[in-house]
Amino acid sequence: MSFISPAEWKASQEKALNALNTLDAKSGKGNDFLGWIRLPESITPEEISSIQAAARQLTEDAEIIVVIGIGGSYLGAKAVIEALSHSFAAWLPERRHLPVVFAGQNIGEDYLGELLEVLTARTSACIVISKSGTTTEPAIAFRIIKKHLEEKYGKAAAKSRIVAVTDRSRGALHTLAAQEGYRTFVIPDDVGGRFSVLTPVGLLPVAAAGFDIAALVSGAANMAKITAEKSLNNPAVNYAAVRNALYNKGKKIEILVNYHPKMHYLTEWWKQLYGESEGKEHKGIFPAGVDFTGDLHSMGQYLQEGERSLFETAVSVGNENNRLEIPFDEQDLDQLNFIAGKRISECNKMAELGTLLAHVDGGVPVIRIHIPQLDAYAVGGLLYFFEKACGISGYMLGVNPFDQPGVEAYKKNMFALLGKPGYESSGLKEIIDRLDAHTN
Ligand code: PA5
Repeated sequence: MSFISPAEWKASQEKALNALNTLDAKSGKGNDFLGWIRLPESITPEEISSIQAAARQLTEDAEIIVVIGIGGSYLGAKAVIEALSHSFAAWLPERRHLPVVFAGQNIGEDYLGELLEVLTARTSACIVISKSGTTTEPAIAFRIIKKHLEEKYGKAAAKSRIVAVTDRSRGALHTLAAQEGYRTFVIPDDVGGRFSVLTPVGLLPVAAAGFDIAALVSGAANMAKITAEKSLNNPAVNYAAVRNALYNKGKKIEILVNYHPKMHYLTEWWKQLYGESEGKEHKGIFPAGVDFTGDLHSMGQYLQEGERSLFETAVSVGNENNRLEIPFDEQDLDQLNFIAGKRISECNKMAELGTLLAHVDGGVPVIRIHIPQLDAYAVGGLLYFFEKACGISGYMLGVNPFDQPGVEAYKKNMFALLGKPGYESSGLKEIIDRLDAHTN
């Protein structure tokens, strides 16, 4: 709080409460994309059961599940599965959860080629996710995986190994799924990609990996109640208020910090949520991420003494699931006996507190978010917390947090370069001339 004055803090909190009112009244920009707000409480036990049943059926005769999607149709599931998985699952003597691998989040020829090598040797099934149903990256990956499944199992049997998650009535994936007779789940019209982790977009892959989606949704539902409160106790109001107050003081970069290796992809999900929601009209905090303590040995110098245009948001995890103490060593050649008998998590916590203080002393404000442990309930709460704060924060900034017009620019050029019908007017020759001018 030493980085902003009491008056600035009060004004920012008031602005955040107003933004919360605008969200609730559905009177702000992009208000036809607010379905995510009541999503956790509106998911019925029957819907959860139907997702779980589809996941069970899909995983019955598969050693690997391939989930195809990009952006909001990828990062939520990836983040939750990474957060809940054993770090060395592939090397455990007994399988605890079905391996889930992702495709369609890049256009990597090596990536897809190597994936096919694995799928040739193992049995597999596929969840293909695209709200628009027309996104190039997942469409390319699905064409490859569909062909593989049909060649390996035959067209009829391949069908039962594919589930599509897409729009209710529009898009190429919807048409393809209807024509081929795939089982489908619908992404609600009023939920945008990066806010869709609690729809079948996130829930089906997480269930297929064998994790507790009921607990995930229940954690989110509890957080929905907490963050609905029209008061200054509301943590989403306070997070949005403090990050905007810091932004207005010239802190243009927010770094999400974790001290738990399983949280790397939660940071990636958060980066998309805030980057795509707020980076508009030449405004918005730039979202970045680091994994501590590892990145203290690469980014620590900059954070301590570089440009003072950044602030950190540290997500602190209370309890670890394992218990491991530092052993005593007679010789003490590494001079670690002063911490012998202490838990690893205690050392990690002291690193966290020491870093927090050092960075604040170095001129980097630190926001601290505490979650009790990394389980499905807490992760569900964290996801919803960030979504709600993002909606509030985007309105405080004055942008539409629920669209992404800027994502189209690269696609237009790429389609013209690839000769997609309908993009001739984008001027292939002009694009090539301009590329030449930039690259020569
Ligand atoms: O948040 C968004 O809307 C985007 O990141 C989309 O999720 C992403 O572009 C993928 O879109 P789609 O699900 O239509 O394939």
